[in-house]
Amino acid sequence: MWDLSRGGVISTKELSSGQLVGRNVLSLEEFAVGEIALILEKAEHFEEIVASQGRLCLLSHKILATLFYEPSTRTRLSFEAAMQRLGGGVISVADAGSSSVVKGESLTDTVRTISGYADGIVLRHPEEGAARLAAEVASVPIINAGDGAGHHPTQALVDLYTLRKERGHIEGLHVALVGDLRYGRTVHSLAKALSRFSVRLTFVSPPELAMPQDITQSLKGRGAYIEETSDLKEAAGEADVLYITRIQKERFPTLEEYERRKGCYKVDLSLLSRAKEGITIMHPLPRVNEISSEVDEYPGAAYFRQAANGLPVRMALLALILGEE
Ligand code: NCD
Repeated sequence: MWDLSRGGVISTKELSSGQLVGRNVLSLEEFAVGEIALILEKAEHFEEIVASQGRLCLLSHKILATLFYEPSTRTRLSFEAAMQRLGGGVISVADAGSSSVVKGESLTDTVRTISGYADGIVLRHPEEGAARLAAEVASVPIINAGDGAGHHPTQALVDLYTLRKERGHIEGLHVALVGDLRYGRTVHSLAKALSRFSVRLTFVSPPELAMPQDITQSLKGRGAYIEETSDLKEAAGEADVLYITRIQKERFPTLEEYERRKGCYKVDLSLLSRAKEGITIMHPLPRVNEISSEVDEYPGAAYFRQAANGLPVRMALLALILGEE
């Protein structure tokens, strides 16, 4: 049972596995807390199964398409591995530069076409709202694997799963989100997801890369406890979890602006020597230089475990969405 809700344990008993069949995953906002708990519970189950059995034949009659207009290592490969572990097939456009996009085909025409070949589409695109647009024309479920600086709902599921595994609970945690909070879609999705639970949030960024005001205001409006600072040392001394992010080079209007901001925060052993005892370090990866490699052996360095959690979490999501009623 997952203790996810504000002030209580969520029971997933009243939810049937069939509840999520055929659903789009555009943002986590569209999912009830109980549904998120159901996905994460199922992920625990798949983690055990993968360790003992390796492969299943649950989705052996299904095909998943991955359609990526932006680079990816973890998200695309963990979705593809998840589908294969469930016995399903995968077709992939790993680089839209090799598809009819270069001939000028629109996203909607591409998605309509792929709907005829696959039972679900995992889409990553540089424009905010692209997944929602795709869902309007697709006849199969669309899973948003990142739309510009907008959402990254499946990463937020992986992050919730990791928090719970690393810390034993989510309720009551103090989580500091650090780095490029302006352009980073993972922190947008995670902040929204965490604000539904009783956690304390600290946003750590230079003022120019702060969390967009509309997000902060709407989270506060829902009763979330949020502080904002640019002081990483202070945050590290108080938080249970540091969630570090890369400065999103590709989203800056000019390279000069990126050059001014890059390297604004660095997590190293000297910072951690003054951090709260038992602190957990997370990062959606890829890292550039914001976490020193000397931190990798630190017991609380959870980022590679976090990346590995992408497999069972995405298996759970695919099984629930593409499975039978
Ligand atoms: C992130 C992304 O694509 O938003 N990567 C990921 O999916 N794990 C983070 C990033 O690119 O910085």
